[in-house]
Formats: sequence, C-alpha cells, structure tokens
Amino acid sequence: MSKLFSLEGRVALVTGASRGLGWAIAEALAEHGAHVVLSSRDQAALEKRAAELDKRGLSAQARAFDAADRAAGAEAVAAVQAEHGRLDILVNNAGMVHRGPIAELADEDWDRVIEVNLTAVMRLSRDAGRQMAARGHGRIINTASIMGLVARPGVASYVASKGGLVALTRALAVEFGPQGVNSNAIAPGYIVSDMTADLHNDPEFDSFVRGRTPLGRWGEAKEIGAVALFLASDASSYVNGHLLVADGGLTVSL
Ligand SMILES: NC(=O)c1ccc[n+]([C@@H]2O[C@H](COP(=O)([O-])OP(=O)(O)OC[C@H]3O[C@@H](n4cnc5c(N)ncnc54)[C@H](OP(=O)(O)O)[C@@H]3O)[C@@H](O)[C@H]2O)c1
Repeated sequence: MSKLFSLEGRVALVTGASRGLGWAIAEALAEHGAHVVLSSRDQAALEKRAAELDKRGLSAQARAFDAADRAAGAEAVAAVQAEHGRLDILVNNAGMVHRGPIAELADEDWDRVIEVNLTAVMRLSRDAGRQMAARGHGRIINTASIMGLVARPGVASYVASKGGLVALTRALAVEFGPQGVNSNAIAPGYIVSDMTADLHNDPEFDSFVRGRTPLGRWGEAKEIGAVALFLASDASSYVNGHLLVADGGLTVSL
C-alpha cells in the first residue's frame, strides 16, 4: 500500500455508514488502516457492518445516533475522543431526501431535511473540528451532491441543503484551515443505493441518467469510497475547501 494513502493509526467517524455510500467510505478508510466508528440510527445494522470489517482483520466499532438529535451527536464525538484520545477524520455522509413539488412542500418536511443534511453537519463539524484544531490536524469530509450545484424539480429541500453544505464546507475550510484541519466536500452524481433505488429501477429515469452522463452509466458506491479515501489521506494534504465532483462528467456536459 502506498504510504501516501495510508491511514494507519487514524480514527475516523463516518455517519450514514450502515449502507450505501457511507458503508463504501467506511470500508475504504478501514482497508487503508483507519479505525472506523460507524454511525447511523440503526445500532444492529452497524454492529453487523463492524463485524464484517472485523472478520476481514480491519478495525471498526458501531455507535448509533440520529443526526437530528443535538445532544447525541455531541456525545458521540466526545465518546470517540475519550476512548481513542483522537478523532482524525469526520465524514458527514448521513443524508435524506424528500420528494415532491415545492408548491406542496410542508414546513416539517423542509425542516427535517435541512436539519439532517445541513444543521447536523455544522454541529458535528464544530464539535469535532474544535478537537482536531487543538491537535493541529484533521480532516472533515462532507457528502454533498451535484444537487448543490444544479437543480432538478421535486427535491427543493434537498437542493437547498446540499447547496448550503457546499458553502458550509468553504466556511469550515477558512476557519479551521489555519489550525491544520482540511475541510472538503464530495459531489456525487447518480450512484446506485437505497436512496436512488426507485430512480434506478425506473426505465425512463435510468435511460435519462445513462444518456445524460458522458461515462454512460450510474456510479458505484465504491467509487465514492475511493474519493473519500483521497480526501482523508495525506495525498490531499494541500486540498482545502474543494468540492470534488464525481458524476461521470454529468455536470460538465450540455
Ligand atoms: N446515491 C446517490 O446518488 C447520491 C448522490 C449524491 C449525494 N448523495 C448523498 O450521499 C449520502 C449517502 O446517500 P446514500 O445514497 O448512500 O443513501 P442511503 O442508502 O439512503 O443511506 C443513507 C444513510 O444515512 C443514514 N441516515 C439517514 N438519516 C439519518 C439520520 N437522521 N441520522 C443518522 N443517520 C441517518 C442511513 O442510516 P439509517 O437508516 O441506518 O439511520 C444510511 O446509512 C447522502 O448524504 C446523500 O444525500 C447520494
């Protein structure tokens, strides 16, 4: 393994790690030597995932909390710090989507998406970033979306949350950068996961994605895991405040 991508001795907290992109990110970090704290709302699912990694000789543990629970997020960061004496990498990946036209968008649905996709990320980044800054080193990686750059009808709260997340990443980069903490975001295009299963199974939408994406296909979760690995590793030591788009070229084609 190239030393540039080695995460030996590092501790990572990955939210939304029970499945999809977050699981692929957790796997990639663990495969490169990190101890990974897997998080989502489902403790049983996380424990199964941690056991999978353990069986492969990799290092992981499960810690469930709801991103919308203010106290639980802070407690999780404090617990990681207390148990391991460090938190080197925070991957804010947990996310949700609410679908429906903006004309029918209920306040509660807007609030929930903004809370989980954006406000919770601010809180975790603030709490973890403080500790990283005190140690003079750290990585914050946010899973945004190409919906933070462009919009499609029917997902207004998601578009707004991801646009906010891209901006928040820049704010984190300029505030924590001087203390040695790099903050970056990933903007995945269409990746096969539970979140996109209905779209992937819809022949019309599937052919839209294939036709519209220069690479002619959907992305795979492990392709986002690889991007996160780059942003977590020393290979990206001078990258700060960047939005790394991994969309097969979708947003650069007209
Ligand atoms: N798939 C795509 O094409 C795509 C494209 C661009 C961006 N993204 C972003 O990538 C991230 C992961 O998406 P995915 O496609 O992997 O979706 P997914 O398969 O639906 O997974 C979402 C993950 O987030 C967790 N989660 C959801 N709400 C949570 C909450 N309130 N508190 C804690 N954890 C919560 C879920 O775990 P539990 O249910 O166990 O809590 C699960 O682990 C999201 O931020 C999404 O917006 C996805």
